[in-house]
Amino acid sequence: MRPAQFSLTVNGRACTVEADGDTPLLDVLRNTLGLTGSRFGCGLEQCGACNVLLDGTAVASCTTPLWAAAGKMIVTIEGLGTLANPHPLQQAFLDEQAAQCGYCTSGMIVSAAALLQRTPAPTAAEIKAALDRNLCRCGAHNRIVRAVQRAARMAK
Ligand code: FES
Ligand code: FES
Repeated sequence: MRPAQFSLTVNGRACTVEADGDTPLLDVLRNTLGLTGSRFGCGLEQCGACNVLLDGTAVASCTTPLWAAAGKMIVTIEGLGTLANPHPLQQAFLDEQAAQCGYCTSGMIVSAAALLQRTPAPTAAEIKAALDRNLCRCGAHNRIVRAVQRAARMAK
């Protein structure tokens, strides 16, 4: 396929990208737009490290083609909060020390943000179900669940 122009809205900013429409969104975010918070883990929609919000739904950006993201609202971990004004989930992950190597963390937070948007006060079971497809090889799961619960309380 020949390169074409695609209009994207990433973290509230409009931009135009010229690329093959089948290029994975993750590659565009990391390599073209310099948003390296979303991680490449498996490339097979199996680990959640690359998750971003697409119109509010957490999706694997490694298997989302550029053409499918055009015209939608894309939010990456960089768009959720800043150092000066972190998202409640970002602050809660820090407070609970809910990361070891941190490789899974941005995908975890993005998936949790989608959960809190649709279920502001989730149970532990709902959190585990929502994060079921996000893998953490460090075994930080209990702290991650506590962090999501803390963020839900902070956001009240
Ligand atoms: S890198 Fe996308 S799900 Fe693993
Ligand atoms: S903190 Fe290392 S993979 Fe989750």
